[in-house]
Amino acid sequence: MHRLLLVLGLLMAAAVAAAEVLPLEPDLEGYQVVLRRAANRSDKLQVFQSIWGAIRSDFIDDTDKVKGLYTQLSNFIRNEMQCTSGPTGHSACELQQEVRRHLRSLMAQRLANLINAEESIQSYGMYVGSSIEPSLVRDVLGHAIEDVYFHRPLEKLTQQLDQLYTDRDEVSFKMMIEAQLSLYWRYQAMHDSNEAFLFNMAHAVSKIQTHHMYASVDTSLQRRVEALHSSLPPVLGSLFHPQGFCLLSRDNREYLYTTITDDWNYGLNGRKVFTWHKQNYTDSAGLIRAFVQEQLSTPVFTLRSELFKWYLFVDPSEGNRLGALRSGSPSSSTSFWTITYVQDALIFRQRDLTLCAAERFDQERRLIKMLPGQMHTPPSEACQWLPVVCSPQYERDAT
Ligand SMILES: *[C@@H]1O[C@H](CO)[C@@H](O)[C@H](O)[C@H]1NC(C)=O
Ligand SMILES: *[C@@H]1O[C@H](CO)[C@@H](O)[C@H](O)[C@H]1NC(C)=O
Repeated sequence: MHRLLLVLGLLMAAAVAAAEVLPLEPDLEGYQVVLRRAANRSDKLQVFQSIWGAIRSDFIDDTDKVKGLYTQLSNFIRNEMQCTSGPTGHSACELQQEVRRHLRSLMAQRLANLINAEESIQSYGMYVGSSIEPSLVRDVLGHAIEDVYFHRPLEKLTQQLDQLYTDRDEVSFKMMIEAQLSLYWRYQAMHDSNEAFLFNMAHAVSKIQTHHMYASVDTSLQRRVEALHSSLPPVLGSLFHPQGFCLLSRDNREYLYTTITDDWNYGLNGRKVFTWHKQNYTDSAGLIRAFVQEQLSTPVFTLRSELFKWYLFVDPSEGNRLGALRSGSPSSSTSFWTITYVQDALIFRQRDLTLCAAERFDQERRLIKMLPGQMHTPPSEACQWLPVVCSPQYERDAT
């Protein structure tokens, strides 16, 4: 029982005398006094070894004690004892590695257990992030993720790691980024293929890159985020692009646009949406932004036509054709979309209906409708939409 206290007691008694009173914190902090009084470096190393022995036999699961020892040992090595300075140096560094490995495994296990139990990892994340150096934090995250990788649905894991970020706290922001990076590169290393995971990861990366704290993150971490971003399927990068995108039908490369003049309004509250006959043509009437409305296992989106900031919706009273609705809060039954992708094309669905370029409306316009019977992958080319950069000019004479 409590051999640690005994060891501490003996050591302190041995160091004794000199009677200068140092402020003592409870627990392990007491050995600092002993260390300060130890005559030389090999004595100090011996103290560390005794403490480690005591922790191992009585406090093997006590993260705080292990962390305390690790921190003291690291200071000792930094200030007094190089790893290359002979046998004592070697032993000190070996001991440090051993303690580090144990600390890493305690923290990684605890994190993994919380993730597996779907409990919040926020406060434990804060604890880890604030107690050890960034490289060990990375190491802990890597081990925790390795531990849960085959036990958790991957798309959920991305969302769970998101919780590591605590509002306005930069340390936790960076830690969340490290965790997502670690998860993503593990996924790559496993050569896995999971569309829902990539979707959620693309969403997480877009949130990271558009976050106000991102500018203050060090450039090496930013470079690693860019590398992740450019390794994602480009179609997802377009979907989550903060400036939005235009859509071309894969079938005929006509772009989807919201009408500009009043002639095509539904009273005051809606506008019509068509594709325009000129191939590859785009302009600001086609600019759309996707917003994540609900984060289920994959996100549910709203799509907003940016020229007037009206939401795309399906009008069941007009044969399920697509329109744009003036509305502050779009209704879930007609304006919420699930999105998947095939190669470089996006597919937009509501329930068992799929968004497709349909028959011509006149010489220049084509209707866009929700069609049944397109649930196979991939659906026909008229139901696949290529996100492209909208060209800025604004020269279409007709509407
Ligand atoms: C360190 O000090 C102890 C006594 O406290 C002594 O026995 C030992 O020889 C010393 N070692 C070195 C390397 O000076
Ligand atoms: C539209 O773009 C595609 C791909 O770049 C190209 O193959 C096609 O010829 C273009 N069509 C027109 C009419 O420019």
